[in-house]
Amino acid sequence: MQKRKLEFNYTMFDSLEELSSKQQHLMQCAISARENAYAPYSKFKVGAAVILSNGEIVIGSNQENASYPAGVCAERVAMLYASAKFPDIKIEAIAITATSINHKVDSPVTSCGICRQSMAEYEQKQKFPIEILMMGEIGQVIQCDSVLDLIPFAFDSSFL
Ligand code: THU
Repeated sequence: MQKRKLEFNYTMFDSLEELSSKQQHLMQCAISARENAYAPYSKFKVGAAVILSNGEIVIGSNQENASYPAGVCAERVAMLYASAKFPDIKIEAIAITATSINHKVDSPVTSCGICRQSMAEYEQKQKFPIEILMMGEIGQVIQCDSVLDLIPFAFDSSFL
Protein backbone atom coordinates (compact mmCIF):
# COMPACT_ATOMS: atom_id res chain seq x y z
CA MET A 1 0.00 0.00 0.00
CA GLN A 2 1.28 3.41 -0.89
CA LYS A 3 -0.38 6.69 -0.01
CA ARG A 4 0.24 9.23 -2.71
CA LYS A 5 -0.34 12.95 -3.03
CA LEU A 6 -1.08 14.86 -6.18
CA GLU A 7 -0.26 18.54 -6.48
CA PHE A 8 -0.77 21.04 -9.25
CA ASN A 9 0.38 24.55 -9.97
CA TYR A 10 -1.81 27.52 -10.68
CA THR A 11 -1.41 31.27 -10.51
CA MET A 12 -3.83 33.54 -8.70
CA PHE A 13 -4.00 37.10 -9.98
CA ASP A 14 -5.65 39.73 -7.80
CA SER A 15 -7.36 41.36 -10.74
CA LEU A 16 -7.64 41.31 -14.52
CA GLU A 17 -5.20 44.24 -14.77
CA GLU A 18 -2.37 41.97 -13.56
CA LEU A 19 -2.63 39.78 -16.65
CA SER A 20 -0.67 40.34 -19.88
CA SER A 21 -2.38 42.46 -22.52
CA LYS A 22 -2.97 39.34 -24.63
CA GLN A 23 -4.61 37.56 -21.71
CA GLN A 24 -6.67 40.64 -20.85
CA HIS A 25 -7.87 40.89 -24.43
CA LEU A 26 -8.97 37.25 -24.42
CA MET A 27 -10.85 37.81 -21.16
CA GLN A 28 -12.50 40.93 -22.58
CA CYS A 29 -13.74 38.77 -25.48
CA ALA A 30 -15.16 36.29 -22.95
CA ILE A 31 -16.84 39.16 -21.08
CA SER A 32 -18.51 40.29 -24.33
CA ALA A 33 -19.48 36.71 -25.15
CA ARG A 34 -21.25 36.48 -21.79
CA GLU A 35 -23.88 38.87 -23.06
CA ASN A 36 -25.02 36.35 -25.70
CA ALA A 37 -25.62 33.61 -23.16
CA TYR A 38 -29.06 32.06 -23.29
CA ALA A 39 -29.61 31.34 -19.60
CA PRO A 40 -33.29 31.90 -18.79
CA TYR A 41 -33.31 29.05 -16.25
CA SER A 42 -30.13 29.50 -14.22
CA LYS A 43 -29.80 33.26 -14.84
CA PHE A 44 -26.08 32.47 -14.75
CA LYS A 45 -24.44 33.82 -17.91
CA VAL A 46 -21.10 32.32 -18.82
CA GLY A 47 -18.79 33.58 -21.56
CA ALA A 48 -15.76 31.85 -23.04
CA ALA A 49 -13.17 32.90 -25.59
CA VAL A 50 -10.63 30.63 -27.23
CA ILE A 51 -7.49 31.88 -28.98
CA LEU A 52 -5.87 29.78 -31.67
CA SER A 53 -2.28 29.71 -32.88
CA ASN A 54 -3.34 31.53 -36.06
CA GLY A 55 -4.57 34.46 -33.92
CA GLU A 56 -8.27 33.73 -34.45
CA ILE A 57 -10.53 34.16 -31.43
CA VAL A 58 -13.66 32.02 -31.18
CA ILE A 59 -16.28 32.79 -28.56
CA GLY A 60 -19.00 30.81 -26.83
CA SER A 61 -21.66 31.25 -24.19
CA ASN A 62 -23.90 28.85 -22.30
CA GLN A 63 -27.01 27.84 -24.19
CA GLU A 64 -29.71 26.39 -21.96
CA ASN A 65 -32.77 24.31 -22.76
CA ALA A 66 -36.17 23.70 -21.15
CA SER A 67 -34.99 20.10 -21.01
CA TYR A 68 -32.13 21.05 -18.71
CA PRO A 69 -29.54 18.38 -19.62
CA ALA A 70 -29.72 19.46 -23.27
CA GLY A 71 -28.09 22.79 -22.39
CA VAL A 72 -24.43 23.31 -23.26
CA CYS A 73 -21.76 25.17 -21.30
CA ALA A 74 -19.89 28.17 -22.70
CA GLU A 75 -16.52 26.39 -22.76
CA ARG A 76 -17.81 23.58 -24.94
CA VAL A 77 -19.67 25.92 -27.30
CA ALA A 78 -16.38 27.80 -27.88
CA MET A 79 -14.07 24.78 -28.03
CA LEU A 80 -16.30 22.68 -30.28
CA TYR A 81 -16.86 25.57 -32.64
CA ALA A 82 -13.12 26.30 -32.76
CA SER A 83 -12.44 22.67 -33.61
CA ALA A 84 -15.26 22.58 -36.18
CA LYS A 85 -14.05 25.73 -37.93
CA PHE A 86 -10.28 25.27 -37.57
CA PRO A 87 -9.76 21.52 -37.07
CA ASP A 88 -5.99 21.58 -37.57
CA ILE A 89 -5.11 24.79 -35.74
CA LYS A 90 -3.83 24.59 -32.17
CA ILE A 91 -5.90 26.03 -29.33
CA GLU A 92 -3.56 28.13 -27.19
CA ALA A 93 -5.81 29.38 -24.40
CA ILE A 94 -9.37 29.74 -23.16
CA ALA A 95 -10.77 32.50 -20.95
CA ILE A 96 -13.95 31.92 -18.92
CA THR A 97 -16.09 34.38 -16.98
CA ALA A 98 -19.61 34.49 -15.55
CA THR A 99 -22.22 36.89 -14.29
CA SER A 100 -25.48 36.22 -12.47
CA ILE A 101 -28.81 37.99 -12.15
CA ASN A 102 -29.04 36.71 -8.57
CA HIS A 103 -25.71 37.74 -7.07
CA LYS A 104 -22.37 39.38 -7.84
CA VAL A 105 -19.96 36.68 -9.00
CA ASP A 106 -16.88 37.86 -7.14
CA SER A 107 -14.75 34.73 -7.24
CA PRO A 108 -13.39 32.86 -10.27
CA VAL A 109 -15.81 30.52 -11.99
CA THR A 110 -14.25 27.12 -12.54
CA SER A 111 -15.23 24.79 -15.35
CA CYS A 112 -17.58 21.87 -14.74
CA GLY A 113 -16.35 18.30 -15.01
CA ILE A 114 -17.80 17.66 -18.47
CA CYS A 115 -16.06 20.76 -19.84
CA ARG A 116 -12.77 19.67 -18.28
CA GLN A 117 -13.11 16.29 -19.96
CA SER A 118 -14.00 17.91 -23.25
CA MET A 119 -11.11 20.38 -23.10
CA ALA A 120 -8.70 17.57 -22.13
CA GLU A 121 -9.63 15.76 -25.35
CA TYR A 122 -8.49 18.71 -27.47
CA GLU A 123 -5.31 19.06 -25.48
CA GLN A 124 -4.52 15.40 -26.08
CA LYS A 125 -5.43 15.70 -29.76
CA GLN A 126 -3.15 18.66 -30.39
CA LYS A 127 -0.34 17.45 -28.08
CA PHE A 128 0.04 20.97 -26.78
CA PRO A 129 -1.19 22.39 -23.47
CA ILE A 130 -4.14 24.77 -23.36
CA GLU A 131 -3.86 27.67 -20.92
CA ILE A 132 -6.99 28.34 -18.86
CA LEU A 133 -8.01 31.70 -17.39
CA MET A 134 -11.01 31.73 -15.04
CA MET A 135 -12.73 34.78 -13.60
CA GLY A 136 -16.03 35.77 -12.04
CA GLU A 137 -17.55 39.12 -12.80
CA ILE A 138 -14.97 40.97 -10.76
CA GLY A 139 -11.97 40.07 -8.63
CA GLN A 140 -9.35 37.40 -8.81
CA VAL A 141 -8.34 35.40 -11.87
CA ILE A 142 -7.05 31.82 -11.78
CA GLN A 143 -4.54 30.82 -14.44
CA CYS A 144 -3.55 27.21 -15.23
CA ASP A 145 -1.00 26.13 -17.80
CA SER A 146 -2.82 22.97 -18.83
CA VAL A 147 -6.27 21.38 -18.75
CA LEU A 148 -4.70 18.25 -17.24
CA ASP A 149 -4.00 20.26 -14.08
CA LEU A 150 -7.78 20.48 -13.64
CA ILE A 151 -8.60 16.86 -14.34
CA PRO A 152 -6.24 14.40 -12.70
CA PHE A 153 -6.66 10.78 -13.78
CA ALA A 154 -8.46 11.97 -16.89
CA PHE A 155 -10.05 9.32 -19.05
CA ASP A 156 -8.63 9.44 -22.56
CA SER A 157 -8.30 7.46 -25.77
CA SER A 158 -5.39 5.42 -24.41
CA PHE A 159 -7.91 3.33 -22.44
CA LEU A 160 -9.89 2.36 -25.53
N1 THU B 1 -21.99 26.62 -17.03
C1 THU B 1 -21.07 26.91 -17.99
O1 THU B 1 -21.39 27.47 -19.05
N2 THU B 1 -19.79 26.53 -17.76
C2 THU B 1 -19.36 25.88 -16.64
O2 THU B 1 -18.24 25.38 -16.61
C3 THU B 1 -20.24 25.81 -15.47
C4 THU B 1 -21.68 25.94 -15.78
C5 THU B 1 -23.38 26.98 -17.27
C6 THU B 1 -24.28 25.80 -17.48
C7 THU B 1 -25.62 26.38 -17.10
O3 THU B 1 -26.18 27.01 -18.24
C8 THU B 1 -25.30 27.43 -16.06
O4 THU B 1 -23.91 27.70 -16.19
C9 THU B 1 -25.62 27.02 -14.64
O5 THU B 1 -25.06 25.79 -14.35
